[in-house]
Amino acid sequence: MSNASTTPPVSHRGHWKSQFGFLMAAIGSAIGLGNLWRFPYLVGTNGGAIFVLVYLVLLAIVGIPLMLTEITIGQYGQSDALGSYKKIHPKVSFFGAMGILAAVLMLSFYGTIGGWVTYYVGVYFMAIFGGTNPAGKSMEVFSELISVPSLSISWHLVFMLACIVIVLGGLQKGTERANKIMIPLLFFSLLILGFAAMTLPGSSEGLSFYLKPDFSKLSFSVLGSALGQVFFSLSLGMGTMITYGSYLSKKQSGKKNSVVIPICDTLAALLAGLVIFPAVFATGMKPGSGPGLIFVTLPEVFNKLPGGNYIGLIFFVTVLFAAISSAISALEIPVAYLVDQKKVKRQSAVLWLGLAITLLGILPSLSNGNGPLTQFSISALFGNPEWMKSIKFLTLNPFDLPDYIVSYILLPLGGLALCIGGAWIMGKEKLLGVITHNGTKPFKLGNLYFTIIKYIAPIAILIIFVQSLFS
Ligand code: PHE
Repeated sequence: MSNASTTPPVSHRGHWKSQFGFLMAAIGSAIGLGNLWRFPYLVGTNGGAIFVLVYLVLLAIVGIPLMLTEITIGQYGQSDALGSYKKIHPKVSFFGAMGILAAVLMLSFYGTIGGWVTYYVGVYFMAIFGGTNPAGKSMEVFSELISVPSLSISWHLVFMLACIVIVLGGLQKGTERANKIMIPLLFFSLLILGFAAMTLPGSSEGLSFYLKPDFSKLSFSVLGSALGQVFFSLSLGMGTMITYGSYLSKKQSGKKNSVVIPICDTLAALLAGLVIFPAVFATGMKPGSGPGLIFVTLPEVFNKLPGGNYIGLIFFVTVLFAAISSAISALEIPVAYLVDQKKVKRQSAVLWLGLAITLLGILPSLSNGNGPLTQFSISALFGNPEWMKSIKFLTLNPFDLPDYIVSYILLPLGGLALCIGGAWIMGKEKLLGVITHNGTKPFKLGNLYFTIIKYIAPIAILIIFVQSLFS
């Protein structure tokens, strides 16, 4: 298998300083609000352990193989998401464009939640060092934050600014360095929090809600949510791993990383659940409170714990690290596109895109609680006619809409794009050629892997995608 076409083209773009640096950045991208905010609340609203089980199954058959495919396409293309697909075949470069669009949309609402997290870091910091106390007022604190435009917008700006500054620092000195610090700290504090939560009296009810599946709750809507979550949580289908993989040299290995990244990501999500559910049940709270779970329910939980303000501070700093490391990877997708395809200078690309996405993110920031856009939707614009009410995305406000379009539509389509681009267009010889470094590195599961991404994963994605859209 040593023909020239399987050798990724040499390029002069930025490269990761080390394999470890890439791994930390990719894990940083994967672990984010998806693990610490979205996963626990989806578990809470999708029947508990059954969701966890379905998630793990889909992770194995769809998530891990597609992670390898996405990194490999980037390594092969040595270019941004669009450029890498273009190298596979010019006709499929729009697959990359779809990913870039998804990244921009995602970052717009991600920045809003990132802003909330930053605010909570401030709240707990003040509680410890400034004498103010959030105890017993968590609903009020959260409602005010999300409803008062000046408050939610300014914290959104602070969060986005932090991300822009890191990406401006460059690939090695900004992104890689920040992740090498944040990610080990993140795991360390999750472990401490998990340990603290498990020792609470009454935590076992939470554990069984979280770990004992109730099969009567299985439905296509659970499957759809779990599939969307696999993509969202692993940063798949958007071109993040293509972009990060494109900064790997052809000598570095993508194969081991494609297993290590999902395992670490899943560990973080499971740990987050282990922190949250036992604590929620032990303090008599309800797990199904939805997106407010970590902002309203958890602070109540922290209030009841000894040293609660410290635990709150550690928790929200952890979430902040996770959110920043993911947001910078999403920003990198369109940045790489402008740099590689449009030959824009990296610094200008970061600044302009950062500014544009931050401005776009003001819309979702105004769409929660009593915010001015909370009731706004395409359907509301037309006076909510009956037929529009049955089409979900027409009824969503500017906060829920991008999440829905990204997680339930663009990312599954991005997953199909990976299967088509990798298995059907690149083909077995070329794809496995890149993975095995032209046959010099063995890949025992190569055939199984290829069968999965050619047939099993796309069929699974299609069925769940279509069913969940209509359920
Ligand atoms: N994986 C991130 C999370 O779990 C979200 C993300 C998706 C980041 C896609 C970048 C690209 O929060």
